[in-house]
Amino acid sequence: MSQQEFPTFPSDFLWGVSTASYQIEGATREDGRGPSSWDAFVAQPGRISNGDTGEVACDHYHRYPEDIKIMKGLGVDAYRFSFSWSRIQPEGKGASNPLGLEFYDRLVDGLLEAGIEPSPTLFHWDTPLELEQDGGWMNRDTAERFADYAQIVGERFSDRVSRWITINEPAALTLMGYGAGIHAPGLALGFDALPAAHHLLLAHGLGVAALRSAGAGNIGIANNHGVTWPASMAEEDVQAAGLYDNIANWIFADPILAGAYPEVLAPFLPAIPDGDLAIICAPLDWYGINSYNPTLVGAPTSGQSALVDGHRIDQSLPFSLRELEGYPRTDFDWPVVPAAFTELLLGFKARYGEKLPPIYITENGAAINDGPDRQGRVADQRRIDYTDAHLQALAAAMEAGVDVRGYFHWSLMDNFEWAAGFSQRFGLVHIDYQTQRRTPKDSYYWYQQLIRHSKANGI
Ligand code: BGC
Repeated sequence: MSQQEFPTFPSDFLWGVSTASYQIEGATREDGRGPSSWDAFVAQPGRISNGDTGEVACDHYHRYPEDIKIMKGLGVDAYRFSFSWSRIQPEGKGASNPLGLEFYDRLVDGLLEAGIEPSPTLFHWDTPLELEQDGGWMNRDTAERFADYAQIVGERFSDRVSRWITINEPAALTLMGYGAGIHAPGLALGFDALPAAHHLLLAHGLGVAALRSAGAGNIGIANNHGVTWPASMAEEDVQAAGLYDNIANWIFADPILAGAYPEVLAPFLPAIPDGDLAIICAPLDWYGINSYNPTLVGAPTSGQSALVDGHRIDQSLPFSLRELEGYPRTDFDWPVVPAAFTELLLGFKARYGEKLPPIYITENGAAINDGPDRQGRVADQRRIDYTDAHLQALAAAMEAGVDVRGYFHWSLMDNFEWAAGFSQRFGLVHIDYQTQRRTPKDSYYWYQQLIRHSKANGI
């Protein structure tokens, strides 16, 4: 690709990569780390493809110096990783574990030495097991425990960390973990899972306050969003898609950005104590969006079931997820629809107007499972195509006035893709799980050129 073909971004646009603790660290029993909901979940037969677990994953806990070098070579400005709560507080409450904190000291200091801004997420789904056994996110107390934990990490790292993310994707944890039972803790509560959404949002708000009181600034959240399209313009499809849109998107964004839940969800939500919404909508410095693809939704269909990430979902719901046909697909079978990314961002601007802080894209990427050829090269052109097209779509949204400050690609390296185990590869860097050999893919070199080009030629 010639340089002129790269999408154009402002020269101070922030370029990054993302990962998460349970997906890469391994060392689940080392140095006093306590078990998390995911350790318990992966041990249950049949939960994870191929019986994979995160016990070793990318062995990042030991190989982080090599991973920092790889990021330095890539030229990223920032690295989004997550702290493992149960490495820092093994029981999710009470005393912190010095060895856990020291691991993150080494990581943060190593990143700073390499000129990369550490951008940690406090919680990326790996709930300390003791808290999960006490009800996890269905229990309001977990939000209070999260605030204590946020205070601990804020006090320890605010001198060195200049960008913070409270929680990753409350939507995925609520809907996949407590609603559909595909992720830990594996509960299939349907609409009864929605209290978990409220407690995660409350934890976010309490976490923002705790971080600020510990001297931390530049705080956001990483919420996942995708455009919802109705299967047809028939009244029942439009209504069903509207309800799904509220459950997948607006229940998680409206309270934070507008201080209220969507009215249509009132019948499904618990009574909200006075004061909670004021905590949840405390001003943020920026809003993080994770986005992969749009969703097609229609009225419920009888006798059918929808396939989500390879799992059948019970269709006794007031909507049904439909196949979006006519688009290329990733190896995870997710449709590739870059224009929907522009539509999503324009929709945010239209919905929230002045209330919308600057946006960072905290995740975007594709599962493309190409491995090394005989010469050891990983020619993952389809990841380059996906990323290029989504960056063009992002640039179009910015051109139309959406204030986006940075982009974190998911992911730096192949890793434990939750229920799909190691079967889906999202990395710019290939991991050989037998040898732990890291091989930068063609997409790594493409992203490296894009970053250089953007810094040299940006607007
Ligand atoms: C999550 C990541 C995950 C990625 C791809 C996001 O929902 O935050 O942990 O690996 O999507 O599925």
